[in-house]
Amino acid sequence: PAERAALKDKIRRLLQERNAVMVSHYYVHPDLQDLAEETGGIVSDSLEMARFGRDHPAQTLVVSGVRFMGETAKILSPEKTVLMPDLDATCSLDLGCPIDAFNAFCDAHPERTVVVYANTSAAVKARADWLVTSSCALDIVRALKDQGHKILWAPDRHLGDYIRAETGADMVFWNGACIVHDEFKAFELTALKKEHPGAMVLVHPESPAEVIALADFVGSTSGILRAARESEAREFIVATDNGMLHKLRTLNPGKVFYEAPTAGRSATCKSCAHCPWMAMNSLAGVAQVLETGANAVHVDPALIPRARVPIDRMLAFTA
Ligand code: 13P
Ligand code: SF4
Repeated sequence: PAERAALKDKIRRLLQERNAVMVSHYYVHPDLQDLAEETGGIVSDSLEMARFGRDHPAQTLVVSGVRFMGETAKILSPEKTVLMPDLDATCSLDLGCPIDAFNAFCDAHPERTVVVYANTSAAVKARADWLVTSSCALDIVRALKDQGHKILWAPDRHLGDYIRAETGADMVFWNGACIVHDEFKAFELTALKKEHPGAMVLVHPESPAEVIALADFVGSTSGILRAARESEAREFIVATDNGMLHKLRTLNPGKVFYEAPTAGRSATCKSCAHCPWMAMNSLAGVAQVLETGANAVHVDPALIPRARVPIDRMLAFTA
């Protein structure tokens, strides 16, 4: 604890000295979430991380999350320095959608509007017409469908399935998945629901369709937070990364939150729904990059103007 307190003090001081601000995702360690808020930064979902990073006047952003979040911040503000505690923090969706194969997929469907999830590389974004995050994907695809667009969707097939089921849009899918949400299991969730019959089931749409079918609410991290706050229920089962439980619990002190079961759960691993890449973010990493300026996010300048187009569309749509 003394070491953590010292690191936090050091980060507070360095943020001021460097005119820097922290932007954290809900899945990173609680210390990084609390410190971001306490020092004038933000803890939020991926959509609001992007907007906040673009609009904040600080010249240096420290992004605690995964690489696509740092890259999005850099694409929106190429003049700013974007630091990340660990540049190897990636995402299975990003890894599973390499640009060459994605280009070939797009070339095979030239008549379709290309809609990609934020969890992708700058190169994939540069090939897209629209970017979406889970908090706006449904509304954007619905609007595109109403305008007569056929959709090419990448990379998360579960989110794509969910959106197609909700909107009836004509969609072809890339076959990607989030390794965390893909592990939630319907059979075990049904059993947990029986143990807690009054619990409201909150599910992130990166989960498999059978798990989504058991949900009382389906939404992004910020949507899950809002649903828990607004609900009269006292108990909740949460199917998303367990980093989310910190905010859920601190904002809802009288309510009880259970983690949805995953395939990986066992006697030795009681909370397996945690992204290994989000877990690479640490207080020590933040302190180090602020001190040394190491781990600055770099995006190929040739890609930035094109990659910015779908991001700007998303931010304008959701403004
Ligand atoms: P949200 O946009 O719901 O925060 O989810 C992004 C995500 O998957 C981060 O891993
Ligand atoms: Fe990617 Fe899943 Fe990790 Fe989010 S939780 S960064 S979608 S692997």
